[in-house]
Amino acid sequence: MTLDVAKDNDLREKILAENRRVHALESSLYLQRHPEQTNFFQTEILQKSLDKLCAELGNPKSRILDLGCGTGYLYLQLLARGHRLTGVDISLEMLEVLKQKIPPAAKNRSTLTVMGVEDFVETDNEFYDAVVLSALLHHLYDYESTVRKICGKLSSGGCLWIFFEPLKQKIRSSLRFTLHKGIARLDESVYRLEMRLRRIRLLEEEYEWSDYQRRFGGIDPNRLSELLRSEDMEIENVEKYCSRRYGCPALFATRLLGTQNTFNLLAKKR
Ligand SMILES: C[S@@+](CC[C@H](N)C(=O)[O-])C[C@H]1O[C@@H](n2cnc3c(N)ncnc32)[C@H](O)[C@@H]1O
Repeated sequence: MTLDVAKDNDLREKILAENRRVHALESSLYLQRHPEQTNFFQTEILQKSLDKLCAELGNPKSRILDLGCGTGYLYLQLLARGHRLTGVDISLEMLEVLKQKIPPAAKNRSTLTVMGVEDFVETDNEFYDAVVLSALLHHLYDYESTVRKICGKLSSGGCLWIFFEPLKQKIRSSLRFTLHKGIARLDESVYRLEMRLRRIRLLEEEYEWSDYQRRFGGIDPNRLSELLRSEDMEIENVEKYCSRRYGCPALFATRLLGTQNTFNLLAKKR
């Protein structure tokens, strides 16, 4: 029993250390290495989701906590819309990149903290109008217990926005599966060529432990929704689609094949 707890703690620490190491390597080239977050298809989803979140919030100066904020994918957009942001990330290097991008006029609405989200949610005493997280949960050893604690940081009526997480999907038709895989291979080949031409080193092998939840096929939005409901959260919206490095294959896979590998979820505290 004691041995199991020690093993558990070792694995937890290993995943945290690997996330620090990998994201120190990513830092200034993060978004260039991940065009799946900035292609036209994903950008349209991002903008629509931001509009929806801001409409739910109502107050243009809401207090928003961005967990695993990285180089500011959500953070800078929400700051530009006038909100007060607190960003938390385990990687000093990712936050250094974000710090350089914060406009001087918005600095008094921005607070950045280098810390693991697991420790932050235990020690921070504030409540927020919204907690947002993009591409964070699949990096955590135990995302379920962290999500429960995150719900406790929301004031009544507050929003939780979980964005761009890998989805466990089942494709039953073998034809759709073959086409889905074919598009994925083509998309990856063009991406590799582009990165080679731009002399951007790929870090795929480095992600073995830091993308921990991918080992289990990603995150199940149904299970997550159940967990949220048990924490007195109401599910407002779950959106599923197929993300790809480039916009055209993502559009084709989502709209024509109907395959899905990514989800976004918006929930509200009762
Ligand atoms: C895939 S990146 C996403 C960054 C940003 N949210 C975005 O969407 O561009 C994951 C981020 O989570 C951070 N991260 C990973 N594990 C973490 C943890 N346990 N606590 C805090 N941040 C963590 C990484 O340092 C990295 O910046």
